[in-house]
Amino acid sequence: MSPRTFPPPFVFGAATAAYQIEGGTREGGRGPSIWDTFSHTPGRTLGGDTGDVAADHYHRWRDDVGLMRELGLGGYRLSISWPRVQPGGRGPLNAEGVVFYRDLLDALRGAGIAPVVTLYHWDLPAELEAEGGWTNRETAYAFADYARAMARELADRVEVWTTLNEPWCSAFLGYASGVHAPGRTDPAAALAAAHHLTLAHGLATTAIREELGEAAKVSIALNLHVTRPADPGCVADLAAAHEVDVVGNHVFLGPLLDGSYPIELRELTRHLTDASFVRPGDLNLIRQRIDVLGVNYYCTNYVRRRTADAPGSAGTGGHGDGTASPWVGLDDVEFLPPSGPTTAMGWNIEPEGLYELLTALDNAYDGIPLMVTENGAAYDDVVGPDGAVHDPERVDYLRRHLDAVGRALEDGVDVRGYFVWSLLDNFEWAYGYSKRFGIVHVDYETQRRTPKDSARWYAELVRTRQLRG
Ligand code: FCB
Repeated sequence: MSPRTFPPPFVFGAATAAYQIEGGTREGGRGPSIWDTFSHTPGRTLGGDTGDVAADHYHRWRDDVGLMRELGLGGYRLSISWPRVQPGGRGPLNAEGVVFYRDLLDALRGAGIAPVVTLYHWDLPAELEAEGGWTNRETAYAFADYARAMARELADRVEVWTTLNEPWCSAFLGYASGVHAPGRTDPAAALAAAHHLTLAHGLATTAIREELGEAAKVSIALNLHVTRPADPGCVADLAAAHEVDVVGNHVFLGPLLDGSYPIELRELTRHLTDASFVRPGDLNLIRQRIDVLGVNYYCTNYVRRRTADAPGSAGTGGHGDGTASPWVGLDDVEFLPPSGPTTAMGWNIEPEGLYELLTALDNAYDGIPLMVTENGAAYDDVVGPDGAVHDPERVDYLRRHLDAVGRALEDGVDVRGYFVWSLLDNFEWAYGYSKRFGIVHVDYETQRRTPKDSARWYAELVRTRQLRG
């Protein structure tokens, strides 16, 4: 690896999400979210873990900002819990919730850390789910009202407004596979949810700009799937990879950036839905200028065309455990288990995929400003007898992915920043507390924070802006 430099204004930061770190779910006037309901439903999360306490950031945020300052971070990507600031998802704001975020943002500013704020990182107010959640078009309008209210209340405390985090997960893990809240397994519902999420993004973007003017920076963070054919010489496998690109990526990139849905999406899902949820004029509402596109990247996928006699070829009829495939319309696509080393999530390690993704987006969307809003790895970290957490695998993972980012930068791709997932070990959704992504270790018994070796390594990178070869 050759040395890489990341000159200012490139921002190095860390990312978290409200439900994963805050705890205090019944405090300060917060209402329930779909993740409270889901995690409290037996069998939904590993070990029955919930976000009730999480990393107790709701009470420890001052110390956590102090930690970020010590690490020298230039940015922090956090999310606002909608049910904390507007319980029920409609109507008057909860002043105590708003003050919590206002104080947090002020403390970050005071520490010289630029806040990148996600408005929706999966914690829909439970009342809105009772009315259909993201399958209900009205949820998009409720979200835009909430976004407008946050823009008015928090205004220039926020550096970048990110409307949604990974709407693919909200729609397809939440409504098709059922492994995320609200835990539904209805492919048609997932497609409607995807559309209403993009509509929510468009309406919210407009609302934020109406409140704050054109200077407000707006983004969305997508988990785009870098997908490779099992056999690059096989036309059927190439077609399978292309279909994943359609259902995993262009289902959002299309309406958001091109102003249209890919025609193949219609073909692949015609048997599931008539798509009447797409109303005339929606695509104009959705396609708004975004100032920066957030890219969340962890690994790649390998796929092949399923043959008629292969096991499981009956399609996505369910996994026998109450969950189903998130890949609606792709019954003939088989995802291969990773080969080579994996992280504790069982995800492969392919930094090249990040380089390819950044350069492909740059090419396809005319040099659109990009920001790596999540990248990182889970490992089974322990605090050693020396009181430290030695996590050389994570350091290696981060080094190689930052090298990919640096390479893209050198090639002229407009990458504005990099946010490691995550600042702290936290509630990893259906995996509960079993997966540790933090560069800072959290002992959930004592809530003690211990910066891992990777945190020290990252702090040095942030200080020098040099990645050594
Ligand atoms: C992403 C999520 C984030 C975290 C990481 C590991 O899909 O946005 O909250 O769970 O994965």
